[in-house]
Amino acid sequence: MKRTKIVDAVKGGELIGQDVCVKGWVRTRRGNKHVQFVALNDGSTIKNLQIVFDLNRFSEEELKAITTGSSLCVYGKMVESMGRGQVCEVQADKFEIYGIADPAEYPLQKKGHTLEFLREIAHLRPRTNTFGAILRVRSVLAYAIHKFFNEKGFFYLNTPLITASDCEGAGAMFQVTTLPLENLPCTEEGKVDYSKDFFGKTTALTVSGQLEGELGATALGAIYTFGPTFRAENSNTPRHLAEFWMIEPEMAFYDITDNMDLAEEFIKYCISFALENARDDIEFLQEMYDKELISRLEFVIHNDFVRLPYTEGVKILMESGHKFEFPVYWGCDLSSEHERFLVEEHFKRPVILTDYPKEIKAFYMKQNEDGKTVRAMDVLFPKIGEIIGGSEREADYNKLLTRIEELGIPMKDMWWYLDTRKFGTVPHSGFGLGFERLVLFVTGMANIRDVIPFPRFPGNCEF
Ligand code: 4AD
Ligand code: MG
Repeated sequence: MKRTKIVDAVKGGELIGQDVCVKGWVRTRRGNKHVQFVALNDGSTIKNLQIVFDLNRFSEEELKAITTGSSLCVYGKMVESMGRGQVCEVQADKFEIYGIADPAEYPLQKKGHTLEFLREIAHLRPRTNTFGAILRVRSVLAYAIHKFFNEKGFFYLNTPLITASDCEGAGAMFQVTTLPLENLPCTEEGKVDYSKDFFGKTTALTVSGQLEGELGATALGAIYTFGPTFRAENSNTPRHLAEFWMIEPEMAFYDITDNMDLAEEFIKYCISFALENARDDIEFLQEMYDKELISRLEFVIHNDFVRLPYTEGVKILMESGHKFEFPVYWGCDLSSEHERFLVEEHFKRPVILTDYPKEIKAFYMKQNEDGKTVRAMDVLFPKIGEIIGGSEREADYNKLLTRIEELGIPMKDMWWYLDTRKFGTVPHSGFGLGFERLVLFVTGMANIRDVIPFPRFPGNCEF
């Protein structure tokens, strides 16, 4: 008999009165001398399917090994449930235990573990209701992202993970080498001889696919990347990971306003899609962790984002009278307390901050006529701070070259990038959305380490 997934089984419907086969892991077993109830979950939904074992049919001895965490295959009849909390249940005729889970050893035997404890058993935490819900929401969001860009005619471009350039300057990089670290080959000047390394030069894991994304956009018109990026900063915060996923659309013929419009539409689309397609999981997370979750998500979908130049934002912060841990002044790089003040206290809605001082932004951003600011745009969100960073790009060859030289970026790294401005340059724009920050927002979780299946952060790389 074909297996029915629990996500379908719990609906009952046409299955009522039919014989079914279901498989999954036991969440709980309870009952009395006459009947035992098993809550079975196969990961396809937050909901459990109730299996009823009649003790006229099965002995207590037979059921003993059905403990929390064990895995089962059950054959039985689907019937309407008399009990509360479920539409239907399966009356077991026959079952097989695939694998036991010794209660004395199984770490998830009891419910109600803290998120901190679950982080220590990251290999098993996907089996909890919380992480099941988070991982399903994450998957639904990933699908929404591909769907959004495909419907808009964007092409999915795969940019390299191993890179020979650190032009972006977005963060410290993880070096990639096959040189023997205990016995490095040296040049005559006593420096490491990277010509002997795997690629014949120094290489590292990418911090962003943007620069290569621009090569795609100036050929295909509009592309997006969606892949892992790596930053070796020692930032132990609830919003930073050393390995995180980023979505980077890049569009020819878009100015900064087109870019902001796209970013706002994109993020609203993803949140709506998750609310529609991962509703049960989001409701569960709301119930357990964040009572305002759904109203916050709906608020973001239904309200325009504020659009404001950095200079105005700094003025609001300086005049607020609020005491910040880090001082605010024109030219400062805003920290998340500043960003969140603007969003949560002042405007009470998402804010897109534009036209930042050029000193605190990357070299490739389009320079404004004032000579001081660049056409950057950061999207700031409640509880998160910066969720998107982007800009219109400098399309003028000479201006870009001058900036590269001012910053002392080595030309050997940049010639290919400059070629986009040398041959058929066009106005263009793009941005990067931190995927885990979006998942954080949509799940209402507080720590970014809880929204990626296998988090990497300083001092932690399990598996
Ligand atoms: O602002 P960032 O550094 O921008 C870029 O990398 C550009 N190349 C993007 C572009 O224009 N194509 O990073 C973009 C986003 C941030 O807004 C944030 O959401 C996320 O990536 N992010 C991180 N997420 C988790 N852990 C980290 N260490 C992150 N650093 C950035
Ligand atoms: Mg940024």
